[in-house]
Amino acid sequence: MKRLLLVFTLLILVLPMTDMTEAQDTAVSLREFAAQNNIYIGAAAWTQHLDVPEHSEILGREFNMLTPEHEAKFCMISSARGEYDFGRVDELVEFAEAHDMAIHGHTLIWHSCSPDWVENGNFTRDEAIEVLKEHITTVVSRYKGRIKYWDVVNEVFDGAELRDTVWLRTIGPEYIEMAYQFAHEADPDALLLYNDYGAEGINDKSDAIYAMAQDFVNRGIPLNGIGLQSHFDLGGINFASIAENVARIGELGLEVQFTEVDIKYLGDTDEDILRRQARDYYHLMEVCLDADNCTAFIVWGVSDQFTWLRSPDYFNNPTVQPLLFSDDYQAKPAYFALMDILMRRVGATSILSDDAIAAILNDPVAEVALPDATFTDPNQLAPDSVPGVAYYAPMGVTITLDGDLSDWGNVPRVTVDKGTLDGPGAESYEFAVAVDDTNLYFMANVTDPNVMFGEFGAGDWYQTDSVEFYINATGNLAAASYEPGVVQIGILAENATQPAAPLYGGGSSDTITVSIAAVETETGYIIEASVPLVSDIWNITPEHMGVLGFQTHLNGSSGSGRDAKFIWSAADTQDQSWTNPSLFGQLIFWDKNQ
Ligand code: XIL
Repeated sequence: MKRLLLVFTLLILVLPMTDMTEAQDTAVSLREFAAQNNIYIGAAAWTQHLDVPEHSEILGREFNMLTPEHEAKFCMISSARGEYDFGRVDELVEFAEAHDMAIHGHTLIWHSCSPDWVENGNFTRDEAIEVLKEHITTVVSRYKGRIKYWDVVNEVFDGAELRDTVWLRTIGPEYIEMAYQFAHEADPDALLLYNDYGAEGINDKSDAIYAMAQDFVNRGIPLNGIGLQSHFDLGGINFASIAENVARIGELGLEVQFTEVDIKYLGDTDEDILRRQARDYYHLMEVCLDADNCTAFIVWGVSDQFTWLRSPDYFNNPTVQPLLFSDDYQAKPAYFALMDILMRRVGATSILSDDAIAAILNDPVAEVALPDATFTDPNQLAPDSVPGVAYYAPMGVTITLDGDLSDWGNVPRVTVDKGTLDGPGAESYEFAVAVDDTNLYFMANVTDPNVMFGEFGAGDWYQTDSVEFYINATGNLAAASYEPGVVQIGILAENATQPAAPLYGGGSSDTITVSIAAVETETGYIIEASVPLVSDIWNITPEHMGVLGFQTHLNGSSGSGRDAKFIWSAADTQDQSWTNPSLFGQLIFWDKNQ
């Protein structure tokens, strides 16, 4: 037997920051490539920072949209009824115009910044409507033709309900549509947005906002789009869900803007945090660029040093670095990640090399050295697996899907009986994988004294007896989120009594034709499945020592939801493979005739 030492070349190092800051000197800007992608790239700003030369220089050079971060809000410009001080807003508007930037007006009505004279005005309904109209008319007409977008009302939902505000109490829910009517009358060309937080993906709040938007569209209330604030936590962003929300808003004929983007985290900052933050920025921009109706990506400040998140009143992490430029105005990895996607999308040569962007998008993976291949039984068609790390799948084996395991013969089997739940829902299972020229075959032989058939709906199928296997055929085993070519396939024990389609998870929209056979046995049940090697989502050519990412789980129920969860890959200690394919192990093809 040939000595075999597998050293995978997946070692991806974090790109040293110096490589990126050198790239910064090139004469490209975010705004140039945002414009080529037909979106605005914006930043929130305060007048007090316009006097900081580095700050203004970056603001004007990199961004083509400006949002007043705080100084245009009602409480900031009006100290008494009919009295307005527009000095600061004027300064911001003039700066934007001087730098050929569009202006995103923020915001006309916001519960957190209503002047005292409004909050304590004890107005009748009619008076409150007058006050609402006066304010909106005064502000919008002053900047008529100059402020292109207005966040007319901001954050009026509290979860799925309307927030208790002075306007709701005095006027009733109609105050919202009135605000849009008044703004539209004051500047019919301004584009009017509804802006909120925590409603970026699909959830109860975004459902409520969607319902309001749909109602406004149906009734001709002048609403042009939805602002998704996007104050995110590092690593906690469900991009697929955001894309779905953006798409449904688009179906209403409305624009979407990511209006207040920042990405925060607790504690100190290190290179890995900045890299993962860059990755999150990249994927958020990807959602915007993939959607025709996404028209702006606006960051909530230029330099980390001025972020609102450092304030004890808000996130209170005094060292958090949530934006694109550091305290000393250096472009951060997040900046380069955005440059990269904006440039590549229009066919320009990116300022980042392929390796540099891959180092941002992929988690660094330690070199995996596998031990020499061993054969416990000399008749095995492939070597012993490395427990929880690598499974050798023999090539040239064809399986008939019939629930009879005799054709698995000398294909090595692996027993899995550990994971994150150890209840009575299942005792253990053994699995095996093989390939021929057209299919990958998977089998699971489950020991389960009490097999459950189909008592759960598709949404929570994993709560009942089922086997899962996962394949990553992208060639990038370090991929930390689902992308085309990564699938999670769930197969219910129920198939033994009535055919059920396989179930796909992993937040991926990929599906593939999986054929299934399932039978009940004296000790539990058997699943056999075949997956085509050539499909819309991958083209797998088995060759000796070729590697796919691979994982398998078992869900066991004894009647009231999953109480057993067994997991093969040793890297997945928290049952996270459904969202993070970098936790899979390896499937290595083995040609016994090599
Ligand atoms: C914040 C500013 O960033 C702070 O500086 C200010 O003290 C309060 O307002 N959602 C919004 C923004 O719509 O207006 C808020 O901005 C952040 C949350």
